[in-house]
Amino acid sequence: MSFDRLAAHYGWMEAVVAGPRLQRSRVAWIDRLADRRRLLIAGVGHGRFLRAFLARRPSARVTCLDASRGMLHEARERARRAGCDLARVEFVHARLPEWSPPAEPFDAIVTNFFLDCFPPAELAATVACLASAAAPDARWLLADFAVPKRGPPRWRAQAVHALMYAFFRATTGIQARALTEPDPLLAAHGFVLRGRKSAEGGLLRADWWERVSR
Ligand SMILES: C[S@@+](CC[C@H](N)C(=O)[O-])C[C@H]1O[C@@H](n2cnc3c(N)ncnc32)[C@H](O)[C@@H]1O
Repeated sequence: MSFDRLAAHYGWMEAVVAGPRLQRSRVAWIDRLADRRRLLIAGVGHGRFLRAFLARRPSARVTCLDASRGMLHEARERARRAGCDLARVEFVHARLPEWSPPAEPFDAIVTNFFLDCFPPAELAATVACLASAAAPDARWLLADFAVPKRGPPRWRAQAVHALMYAFFRATTGIQARALTEPDPLLAAHGFVLRGRKSAEGGLLRADWWERVSR
């Protein structure tokens, strides 16, 4: 599995296919990170969320993790060209769920259009790995595709998902064939859903989760 082949094209492809819609979901809850000091962006991709975050919080420490060197290069270069201060930003080439988190926990985790890359067992291991990197009061921002429960929005989403998974399986080799619902996994690791915004008739979802002490 590698997004390297797509890395240089990901930005313009998103602009053509989705316009501003995905970015609206990525930043839907960004204000909930206003007091966070140490952020992990898993599957950072081309870094659109990173740039939006650094524009608001240039003094925060950010770790950007991705399995694709090409994507990490895109994220770093685009942030540099946008004038972001990268002194406190670390780019980590690693694959989840095999990554070993650092000892110092993150007080925020961000996964945008990332958890949908995983088949069920690997998703469970990936959420467990990210949760083990998170502080007891961590927040988790998540934007992703979704499938509405019924009716035409559901049929539309199923058609879009079928096309998307066929495309990404062919171009990147991801193993997932369909979306696995991550909610029970986050809940199992002590995260509580604080807010959810849906867009595009339920095709897109933006969540804000918070870990509560048990
Ligand atoms: C669909 S892209 C989303 C990128 C970005 N977060 C966004 O909002 O557009 C998924 C990203 O996750 C990375 N990725 C996929 N599987 C991964 C894994 N197992 N470990 C680390 N990164 C992975 C890919 O290289 C790619 O950059």
